Amino acid sequence: MLKKMIAKLVLFGLLVCGSQAVLQVSISLNKVELSVGESKFFTCTVIGEPVSLTWYSPQGEPIVSTQRVVLHTEGVRSRLTIYNAIVEDAGIYRCQAKDAKGQSQEATVVLEIYQKLTFRSVQTPQEFRQSEDAEVVCDVISSPVPAVSWFYKNKEILSEPNNRFQVLPNNNLQIMRVGKSDEGEYRCEARVEARGEIDFRNIAVVVNVPPVLSVPQQSFNATADAEESVTFTCITSGSPDPEVTWHRKGQQIESSDQHVLGSLEGGRSMLTVRSVGKGDGGPYTCRATNKAGVLESQLVLKVFVQPHITQLRNVTAVEGSAALISCSAEGEPLPEVSWRRGSDGQSFSDGDKSADGRVEARGRNGKSMLTINGVRLTDLGRFDCEAHSRIGEHQKSMYLDIEYAPKFQNNHTIFYSWEGNPVNISCEVMSNPPATILWRRERYTISSEPTANTRVHSGPGRSQLEVTPMSERDFGRYNCTARNNIGARYQEFILAQADVPSNPYSVRLTAVAQRIATVAFMTPDSHGGVPIGHYVVNYKESSNQQWRSAKSHGVQSTVMLSSLEPNTTYVVRVAAVNGKGQGEYSHTETFQTLPIREPSPPTVHGQRGVGKAYRLGLIKQDDGGMPIVEYIVKYKPDKDDQWMTKLVPGVHEFALLQPLQWNTRYSVEITARNIKGLSEPTYFQFLMPQKPDITADSLFSSLGLGTVVGLGVAALLLLLVLVDVSCFFLRQCGLLMCLTRRLCSRKSATSAKGKELEEGKAAYLGDGSKEPIVEMRTEEERITNAEDGSPVNEPTETTPLTEPEKLPLKEENGKEVLKPDTIEIKVRGENSHHTNAGDSKA
Ligand SMILES: *[C@@H]1O[C@H](CO)[C@@H](O)[C@H](O)[C@H]1NC(C)=O
Ligand SMILES: *[C@@H]1O[C@H](CO)[C@@H](O)[C@H](O)[C@H]1NC(C)=O
Ligand SMILES: *[C@@H]1O[C@H](CO)[C@@H](O)[C@H](O)[C@H]1NC(C)=O
Ligand SMILES: *[C@@H]1O[C@H](CO)[C@@H](O)[C@H](O)[C@H]1NC(C)=O
Ligand SMILES: *[C@@H]1O[C@H](CO)[C@@H](O)[C@H](O)[C@H]1NC(C)=O
Ligand SMILES: *[C@@H]1O[C@H](CO)[C@@H](O)[C@H](O)[C@H]1NC(C)=O
Repeated sequence: MLKKMIAKLVLFGLLVCGSQAVLQVSISLNKVELSVGESKFFTCTVIGEPVSLTWYSPQGEPIVSTQRVVLHTEGVRSRLTIYNAIVEDAGIYRCQAKDAKGQSQEATVVLEIYQKLTFRSVQTPQEFRQSEDAEVVCDVISSPVPAVSWFYKNKEILSEPNNRFQVLPNNNLQIMRVGKSDEGEYRCEARVEARGEIDFRNIAVVVNVPPVLSVPQQSFNATADAEESVTFTCITSGSPDPEVTWHRKGQQIESSDQHVLGSLEGGRSMLTVRSVGKGDGGPYTCRATNKAGVLESQLVLKVFVQPHITQLRNVTAVEGSAALISCSAEGEPLPEVSWRRGSDGQSFSDGDKSADGRVEARGRNGKSMLTINGVRLTDLGRFDCEAHSRIGEHQKSMYLDIEYAPKFQNNHTIFYSWEGNPVNISCEVMSNPPATILWRRERYTISSEPTANTRVHSGPGRSQLEVTPMSERDFGRYNCTARNNIGARYQEFILAQADVPSNPYSVRLTAVAQRIATVAFMTPDSHGGVPIGHYVVNYKESSNQQWRSAKSHGVQSTVMLSSLEPNTTYVVRVAAVNGKGQGEYSHTETFQTLPIREPSPPTVHGQRGVGKAYRLGLIKQDDGGMPIVEYIVKYKPDKDDQWMTKLVPGVHEFALLQPLQWNTRYSVEITARNIKGLSEPTYFQFLMPQKPDITADSLFSSLGLGTVVGLGVAALLLLLVLVDVSCFFLRQCGLLMCLTRRLCSRKSATSAKGKELEEGKAAYLGDGSKEPIVEMRTEEERITNAEDGSPVNEPTETTPLTEPEKLPLKEENGKEVLKPDTIEIKVRGENSHHTNAGDSKA
C-alpha cells in the first residue's frame, strides 16, 4: 500500500516534469513471489517519448518472446507475461526505455520463485518380499528442502541406532528384514518451516511371503485297470495365497474327466487321477506360485499291472517231432510264467524237466517256452500257462493237438464165412487228421458203391467191408488202406472158408432117473471158423433103430432128456452145429434109466398158520418114477396118544392142520405114496402158541367206530324198551302192547322163530361165555382170507372121521362160512373134536 502510494507519487512527479523531456519508467510491481507453475505478468509504463522499450532477463539479456515468456509492447507500455514459472525464472527483471537523445531510464522488478511441497510418484501400496530390507519410497520435494517424518500406527518412527526402521537421507523409510507384522499403513509427512506448509501421504506396505509347500504322502501305489483312483495332496502357504498347478512330463495338467483338480481351505490342493491306467505311473509335480516366488514338489505314482497273458496259441505237432509252445505275459511287476500239464497236473517252471527228460520249460522276462521232444500221443491235451506276480496271476489254456499216421485198432484180421453167407470185415483206424479208408484186393480198389458181393459201410474211424462170398475166388486176402496227410498204412485181412465144427467129446450122463437124464459133454476143439450155434443130442433105446434128437439151449453143453422109459437102456451121441452146418457126432454113450420104486420121503417145512391152524409146507422129493398119489399126514399133541390123520393129494404143496389146541406141542409124520408104495416117513414137530389175549381195548379197536356207535344205540334202545315195558304194565299201551296183540293173532308163524331163538340161547349158554363166538368168528374169517378162498379144498384133505363136522363148509362158498349159523357149527365142532378123536381111536 505504501509502495503503491510512493509509486503514484513518483508517477505524479514524472508527469509533472514530463515537459522537461526526461523519461520516467515504472513497473507495475517491483517484487513478486511466485510458486513453481504459477503464471504472472508485469507491466512497464514509460512517461515521455521513448523510442524503445526493452525487457532484460536476470541474466542481462534482452528478452525475446517465447511460448512461455511473452512480451507485448504497445506505445509506452510493455507487458511481460511468465506462464508456468520455473525455478530458473527467478531473478531481477529490468525494463529499459530510451529516448531520442539516447538517454535511457529503467525500472526493475524482483521475481522470487519457490517450490511448494510436492510428492512425486509416491505409490501405494508398496510390496516387499518377506525378510528383505525394504525401502518404502516417499519422494517429496519443495524449496526450501522439506523436513520429512514417518508415522506408523499413529506414532512417529524415530531413527534410532539398531532400530530396524530408519529414515534415509533421501527421506525414504528403510525397514530391515521386513516381516509380515510390519504390514500396514505408513504416513510420510513433509513440512516447509519457512512457509508453514505441510503435506502427507499414506502408504500401504505389503509384505509378500514366498510359497511354502508340504506333501503329506509322496509315493502312491495303484493297480492299473481296476477302476482305482489316486488323490495327490499338496499343502501350501504364503502371501498372497499361492496358486497351485500340477505338472507331469513338463506339461501342466488341465482339469479333465481323468484328472480332477480341487482345493480346500487351509491351502490344500488335490489332484485326483481317476481310472488309473498303465500309462499313469511316474512322477507328478505340484507347483505353488505367488508374487514372492515359486516352489515345487514331486510325488510318485507307482502303477502295478495285473499279470496278463498276451500270447498263447493252440499248437499242432506231428507225432515224434518236437512241439514248441510259447506263452508271453505282461504286467508290472513283470510276472513269472510257468506251465501246468493238464493230463497229470505236473508243473514246469523255468529250468524244469519232466522225469523222462522230454518236456522242458525255459523262460524269463515274462515269457516262457515249453519244449516237448519226441511228441507222443499221450502228450495230447491241455496245457495251462500261468503268469504270476506279487499282485496277482492270470491263467490261460492251450491245446496240444497231435497229428499222426493212421493206426489200426483191431487184431482180428481173419474172418470166416461160407458161400452165400455175408460177413463184415471190420477195419478200425485211429488217426489225426481223419484218414480216408479204402479196401483193396491185389491191385484193385474195391468200389465203395455196392456190387454183387461187396458193400462198404463207412463210419468215422472205421470201415466195414461186407463180403458175400460167391465162389472160392472171393476168399483170400483183403487190404484195408488208411491214408492222411501224415502217412498211409495198410492192414491185411483174410477171409477164410468156414468149416463145420469138430465133434464134441467126453459125453457122460448125470442125474439119471426113471424118466429123465442129463447129457453133459466137452465142447469141440474147433468151431470151424464161425461160432457154434447149438448142439444136437441123438438118443434111442438100444433095441430100437430110430434116433430121437434134442437141441441144446444155445451153446449150453448140457442137455436134459425127458420122457424116457424107466428100467430101459439108451444110447446117446452129440454133434455141434454152426452156420456152415452140423459137425461129426461124438462117440456113443450108453445108460440105463432107473426102475420104478417107492418115492423118497418128502421134505417138510413148517409155516405158522393163523389162529388155531398150522400150515405145513411139503416139498416133493424123488417120486420113484411114478406120480405121488397122496401124502399121509398123521398128527397129534405130544401129550395125547391118538393120531389124527389127514390125506393130502400128491399135487398139493402144503397141508393145513386145524383146528388145533393153544399152547400145545404137536408131532407130525408125513409119508408119500405112489403106485409102487409108501415112502419112509418124515418127522416134524411144532408148538402152538399161547392163546392171544383179546382185551376190550383191542376189541374196540377191532370193532371200530361203527360198532361203538352201535353200542350207544343199543343202550338207547334198552332205555326205550324199559319205558315201553313200564307203559305196558301201567297203562296197557306202547309197542310191547301192540306186539303182544299181534303175536296172539299169529301164533303159528312165531313158534318156529321162538324155537330158533331158544336154540341160539342154548348155544350161547352152553359155551359158557360170549367170547369164543367172537373169537371163532374172527379166526375163521382170517383163515379163509389167508387161504385165498381155498377152504373149499380143505374138507377133501380131512379124514372121513372129521368129515361130518366139515360137511356144511364143503357146500358153502368161502364167504358164506362167515354166516352166524355156521359160527354155531364151528363152536360145536370144537366141542365135538375130542369126542371124534376118541372115536377114531376106538
Ligand atoms: C507300494 O508298494 C511297494 C512295493 O510293494 C511297497 O514297498 C510300498 O510300501 C507301497 N507304498 C504304499 C504307499 O502303499
Ligand atoms: C484251442 O483248442 C481248443 C480245443 O480244441 C478250442 O476249444 C479252442 O477254441 C482253441 N483255441 C484257439 C485260439 O484256437
Ligand atoms: C493185439 O494182439 C496182441 C498180441 O496178440 C495183444 O497183446 C494186444 O493187446 C492186441 N491188441 C488189441 C487192440 O486187441
Ligand atoms: C455189416 O455192418 C453193417 C453196418 O454196420 C450192417 O448194416 C450189416 O447188417 C452188417 N452185415 C452183417 C452180415 O453183419
Ligand atoms: C496189401 O498191400 C501190400 C502193400 O501194398 C501188398 O504187399 C499186399 O500184396 C497187398 N495184399 C493184397 C491182398 O492186396
Ligand atoms: C428091469 O428089467 C429087467 C430086464 O428087462 C428085469 O429083469 C427087471 O426085473 C426089471 N426091474 C424092475 C424093477 O422092473
